[in-house]
Amino acid sequence: MKKNFSNKEIVLGVTGSIAAYKACELASRLVELGAKVTPALTKSATELVGAASFEGITGRRAVTAMFEPLQNPEVEHIAVAQRADLFLIAPATANFIAKAAHGLADDWLSTTLLATKAPVLFAPAMNTNMYEHPATRENILTLKIRGCTFVGPDAGRLACGTVGPGRLIDPMAILEASAPLLRNQPDLKGKRIVMTSGGTQEPVDPVRYIGNRSSGKMGRAIAMEALARGANVTVIAGHSEAPLPYGALVIPVSTASEMAETAVGLAQECDVFIAAAAVADYRVDAPADTKRKKTGKSLTLTLVENPDVLGLVGAVRQGGQVLAGFAAETDDLIKNAKAKLEKKKLDLIVANEVHSPESGFGTDTTNAAILDRSGHVDKLPLLSKDELAERLLDRVVGLLNRS
Ligand code: PMT
Repeated sequence: MKKNFSNKEIVLGVTGSIAAYKACELASRLVELGAKVTPALTKSATELVGAASFEGITGRRAVTAMFEPLQNPEVEHIAVAQRADLFLIAPATANFIAKAAHGLADDWLSTTLLATKAPVLFAPAMNTNMYEHPATRENILTLKIRGCTFVGPDAGRLACGTVGPGRLIDPMAILEASAPLLRNQPDLKGKRIVMTSGGTQEPVDPVRYIGNRSSGKMGRAIAMEALARGANVTVIAGHSEAPLPYGALVIPVSTASEMAETAVGLAQECDVFIAAAAVADYRVDAPADTKRKKTGKSLTLTLVENPDVLGLVGAVRQGGQVLAGFAAETDDLIKNAKAKLEKKKLDLIVANEVHSPESGFGTDTTNAAILDRSGHVDKLPLLSKDELAERLLDRVVGLLNRS
């Protein structure tokens, strides 16, 4: 995702919602991702949050009035409008959304918005009744028809005490929704990616299960990168500590059988299937209905083979689809991965080491190679899982463009 934001010019428009203070966190995350942020506060926003906070975070003067004194030509609204790569209005009030929908230009932000050709994203925040009012709904629809992006709002308890949609969505969701708008070439735009992520849990009894150490970080990295490239992402998610992106459709599952059933059901409608999940090869033959009591003797469990999720998806693969898997290996990395690539009839497999502290389950980095059907082995240096996701999707794009 960092690739999308680095050195990009972003106007962060902050309007007069009680959630205005949350825009500080958004500004900070944008700066962390390498973006150059011009904060622009409407008059009502300055009554809720200080411009100085944004200036300290972004290192740039916050625009707070219609016309800055001429000694600041760089915030001259036309110059900013032309230089912007993205306009982010967060929080976006009902009033500002209405002004934007009707092309009003009575302050710096609305004027500059009218002068820009950059993509525009709104993150609404308002009272539930205001959000659900037909006038607001019509204004949002008008802006969507003109190509603006909306993310949120979230539902929950609002500052005004009501409960319902209207809360500013989490800044992470705003960043995820912004990323594809900044990608110079969203090379997976419109492509449907279905993937598995995280670890399965096979019940022993209602309290215990057989699981594995998958944290879901690799799956999250792939989903984030795919979204940032414009893909439509569905994640069939086993147990995962890593939060999955807001922009993905997440279908939680627990056992390998549930994962298999869901995957086969979705596999035929996707362009790409990626199996990053750590799937248990075995399950307990007869899980107990009640919690097993200690008997003072050893306990024997009979394990039976689980379905091969990726193998079942491969058996129903459609022409033109790309199938990619992972091989979790502790030895003979390339040889074992190659065997799985062939057995499961994959287009690509990521052979990743899972026995060193820097690579595998729960790590932020990974030692891996990418193998393809031609037998080519792309041995990679130690990468972050985000970087590995980029490399893997580069290869997926190459295969999609070839088919
Ligand atoms: O989640 P993290 O903590 O970030 O860790 C990431 C990871 C190490 C889990 C990930 O990079 C990884 O290697 N995932 C695959 C783990 C695994 O099950 O590998 P395997 O070699 O046992 O399986 C080979 C392939 O078949 C995998 O794509 C797997 O998803 C799939 N499989 C395996 C068994 C099964 N019953 N059904 C499957 O679909």
